[in-house]
Formats: sequence, C-alpha cells, structure tokens
Amino acid sequence: MSDKATLEINGKKYEFPIVIGSENEVAIDIKNLRGDTGGVITIDPGYKNTGSCESAITFLDGEKGILRYRGYSIEELAEKADFLEVAYLLIFGELPTQDELYQFHSDIKKHSVVDDDVKKILDAFPKSAHPMGVLASLTSALTAFNPSSVNVDSEEEMYNAIVRILGKFPILVAWTMRKKHGMPLDYGSSSLGYVENILHMMFKRPNEDYTQNKILINALDKLLILHADHEQNCSTSTVRITGSSHAGLFVSLSAGISALWGPLHGGANQAVLEMLEAIKEDGGDTKKYMAKAKDKDDPFRLMGFGHRVYKNFDPRAKIIKAAADEVLSDLGVDDPILDIAKGLEKEALEDQYFVDRKLYPNVDFYSGIIYRAMGIPTEMFTVMFALGRLPGWISQWREMRMRKEPIGRPRQLYTGETYRPFKDISKR
Ligand code: CMC
Repeated sequence: MSDKATLEINGKKYEFPIVIGSENEVAIDIKNLRGDTGGVITIDPGYKNTGSCESAITFLDGEKGILRYRGYSIEELAEKADFLEVAYLLIFGELPTQDELYQFHSDIKKHSVVDDDVKKILDAFPKSAHPMGVLASLTSALTAFNPSSVNVDSEEEMYNAIVRILGKFPILVAWTMRKKHGMPLDYGSSSLGYVENILHMMFKRPNEDYTQNKILINALDKLLILHADHEQNCSTSTVRITGSSHAGLFVSLSAGISALWGPLHGGANQAVLEMLEAIKEDGGDTKKYMAKAKDKDDPFRLMGFGHRVYKNFDPRAKIIKAAADEVLSDLGVDDPILDIAKGLEKEALEDQYFVDRKLYPNVDFYSGIIYRAMGIPTEMFTVMFALGRLPGWISQWREMRMRKEPIGRPRQLYTGETYRPFKDISKR
C-alpha cells in the first residue's frame, strides 16, 4: 500500500500520510489539512469515519465480531479472568501478577469509604430521581471532597486517583440504589472480594446477614468484564474530550456517565427490558413490534439491536445470551421475557430489513434479563453498565493525558445567516 493519500481541490494536489495500526487498520492523517489547504476541513457528523486518537487499549473489528482488551480476547477474559484483573489490565496494559493484584485490591480497599457528608447530598434527591442522574452528580461531587488535581506526570498521583475512584464508585452505585428503596446505607466489608463486596453493599438487608451466592458473583463478574471497555464510543469519547481540557478524573467520569445514560447508548439495557415488558403486556405479539421497528413513520426501534461498529454478531451478546440461560436455570428463574427476547432475535435475524442493514443483537439485548434475575431493579441497569465501564473510562482518560493529547475541539461548517445589520426592537 502507498504511504500517502492524495487529495485534489481546485486542480491542486495535496498529500497526506497513511498510518497503519497494529491490526493493519488504515487511516489518513489529516492533521495538516487546514493549514496546507488554507482552511479546508472535513465534515463527518457522528464521526462515522473519524479516528479521534491513537489508542493501545481495545481492538474491535465490527465486521468480524472481534473484541480484545490489550490483545486478549473478550471470550477468554470473560471465562478466565475476574473483573479486578481486567480493570488492572485495561488501565496498566498487562495482566497483574498475584502480588500486583493483591496490592491493587488492598489499595482500593483503603479508599473504599466516602466522606459521610455525601449522604447529605444523596438525601437531597427525591426518591423518584433516576439513578443515573444521581450517580453522575455524586461522582462529580467527589471532586469537592478530594479537591487536589492529579499531577498526571506523577505515576504515584495517577495511581492514587485511580484506586481512590475504584474504591468509592461501587459505594455510590450501591447507595444510589439503597436510597431509592429506603434501605440504610452500608459500607460493605473489606474482607470481601471486589465484586462480592458490590453485591453485599447492594443487597444486604439491615436485619439479616448477607449470604453470598457464587452464581450471582460469577454472573456479575462476567457482565462487568463484558462492559469494561469498548474503545471510542460516545461516553468514552466524552470522558477523553472532557479530560482533554485538563478537567479532573472524577468530573470527566461524571460527564461519561451522563453520555452513557441515553437510550441509544448504555440506557438501551433499561429500554430493552421495558420494551420486552411492553410486548408481554400487549399479548406477546413480536411480529407487531417487528413491523413497528421497520416502519419509517414510526419512531420505534428494536432496542438492543444494531450497533455503530458491529456489522456482525456483537461478541459480547453471544456470551451474555449463553450466560442468561445459565444464570436463570442456576437460579431456578423461569422468566417469560427470555422467551420473548429469543423469539424476537430469531425473527430479526431472518428478516430482510435487519439482514440488509446488518442489525444484530448487541450487548444490551440480554444483559437486562440477567440483571433482573439477580434482583437488580430495571432503573439500575445503566448504572451497572457504568460500574463495568469504569476501568475503561479510567484507562482511556489516563492514556489521553499521558500521551499529552491536545484539547478536543472539532471545527464546523457554518450554514447560518451571513452578516446582517442589527435591527432595532421597534422594527422587528
Ligand atoms: N431497529 C430498527 N432499525 C434500526 C435499528 C433498530 N434498533 N438500528 C438501526 N436501524 C436502521 C436505521 O433506521 C437505519 O435504516 P435506514 O438505512 O433505512 O435509514 C439503519 O438501520 C442504520 O441505522 P443508523 O441509526 O444510521 O445506525 P447508527 O450506527 O447511527 O446507530 C445505534 C447505531 C446503536 C444507535 C442504532 O442501531 C440503534 O438506535 N439501536 C437501538 C439502541 C441500542 O440498542 N443501543 C445500544 C448500542 S450497544 C451498547 C453501547 O455500547 O452503547
């Protein structure tokens, strides 16, 4: 392949370097486009063709359905690793040794408390508040309790900020749920594993001991791993661009949580379950909803289907579908929603509209069914996604700051009025 791309504008030719990624992905480096051409820019709404950065964290091939964190396949990680190992891998680039993992977990545990005044902030939210709004606010509020900014040139300060947020975030997640359901707030126990402690903090009842269930621990571990990173998606790009102004880690994460909330992104897991419930209530007629999804005059979309990058089966959806079967049978749950989901999937995979547009089930299609079987309320599903995505956001923020990337600031093509003189209010 040539190492240059040529662009011709008004008879003049400009050359731009071609850059090759480690998996032979090809990109045209247009860093000098505006300067060389005297102001020409590219336009790409939704950034469908635009690489915003170089990154060594996650590799995704949407055509082949491949997802790897730091070179390790998602299938192997979901089967053999635990969430904390994956978090370490994403953030620091290598799987931890036993000692490194022990140290990492010990350091996280030291920070697994939040200032008790956070409870006062939580108290001010109405019970009806959506947990994602509460989580974004509390994550941002952590900055007020830990005001010093991180010196990104100091490995030690960077590490401290990372273990601090990994320690505190699960508390915010659990408290957000407990507050909504009128449960007293709990700090969990430092004698437990990271994921065990999350379950303990979420579900321990004030008048009972909490008995750990291996099936739930494994299921949550797997779900968190599958959500842990997904390269430059909407929320991760938000975290990177927020941090590119040198805003702190916690507020950058809070911006990412807000971006994740939308139903086209992380909010889809809640939307999927609500859709499946609606289909069930409506008599289980999946064909009716298939027709709605295909009708261009109907805004309804089949939630949990389609993906900007995957034009093949989302590899995470395959793993989750198998896990859903396993977890429901292990827990002895018979959920008619799972049958509706499977029916819908079968119809969509055979339907020309979905085939032509390469629309396959994504990660969110089956995850809600597992969360529901675990006893997690529907409005908490996107919060669980945020919990899983935390190490991905942290690793992307860290990479962006360590590579000293410039502030993110896209250009635009102005299509508004040209100059016009000011009109006095009496003449408008
Ligand atoms: N149901 C029906 N039609 C769909 C769907 C769907 N779920 N998704 C895409 N299409 C159609 C769309 O109408 C368009 O048709 P046409 O070419 O005739 O205009 C075509 O497929 C391409 O869709 P698009 O909206 O241009 O694709 P996109 O890459 O901009 O959007 C998406 C990707 C995920 C936002 C979209 O597929 C969607 O809205 N899916 C439902 C929401 C969802 O499940 N989101 C979770 C994504 S995975 C979790 C995450 O990482 O965020």
